[in-house]
Amino acid sequence: MPRNVPKPPPGDRPLKTLERVISKAGLGSRSEARSWVGGGRVSVNGRVVRDPDAWIDMERDRVSFDGKPLRREERTYLLLHKPAGYITTYRDPEGRPTIYDLMPDRDRYLFPVGRLDLDTSGLLILTNDTQFAERLTNPEYHVPKTYRVTANRPLTDADLNLLRNGMELRDGPTRPARVTRMNGSEFEITITEGRNRQVRRMVEALDAEVVTLVRIAIGSLRIGDLPSGQTRELTADEVRTLKGVGSREAGVGAKRP
Ligand code: URA
Repeated sequence: MPRNVPKPPPGDRPLKTLERVISKAGLGSRSEARSWVGGGRVSVNGRVVRDPDAWIDMERDRVSFDGKPLRREERTYLLLHKPAGYITTYRDPEGRPTIYDLMPDRDRYLFPVGRLDLDTSGLLILTNDTQFAERLTNPEYHVPKTYRVTANRPLTDADLNLLRNGMELRDGPTRPARVTRMNGSEFEITITEGRNRQVRRMVEALDAEVVTLVRIAIGSLRIGDLPSGQTRELTADEVRTLKGVGSREAGVGAKRP
């Protein structure tokens, strides 16, 4: 008979029961895991925990078995073509679809590298490599991110120049951006910052609105023809390149993304 699985406490942290952490690490079955935990062979953050249903935070807690840290999880790097209408968090108190609904069979916890708004679609990287994620999201590295934007009205050359040269937003001036016109109301913009709703706010500062916003590239990694809602693993070359993307001095004028 399957055991009743306890419900995780509310919150947006990635949690698993201790029993599941042990069995997923490939050490043994779930019933073996329960008896090992009960027998005091498992510690969490240096303290023995005897409750197999204790909640473990997969990102923060360190679990040891017989005094040895559980093997580090293999690094995984996924590219997701996020559709609009999905939020980039693990759980949503309002019950809206999350990006995890698009990857139901993954037992390994992957977290998104940065966020895309609910209504933004396009390239989102998911990983379990915190250093890699930190490198891509640390504002000091100015990692270039490129968006295809459709505005609600044709934009003038003067509008595009304002986007290019930097404009005043409530949280300070924007850094110079690369902007390429596609047609009257559509353009591509490469920014080297990751401020909250930045592209939307830049367009709003022109007295226009964003109709669609799609992230098409991070550095040289492009969304390509990956269908919406689908994922693919990054290649080793792509991961290597991303690990070196951006620099403390880089601006869009300094280096082509
Ligand atoms: N800029 C925005 O306004 N929204 C996003 O999701 C990403 C960049």
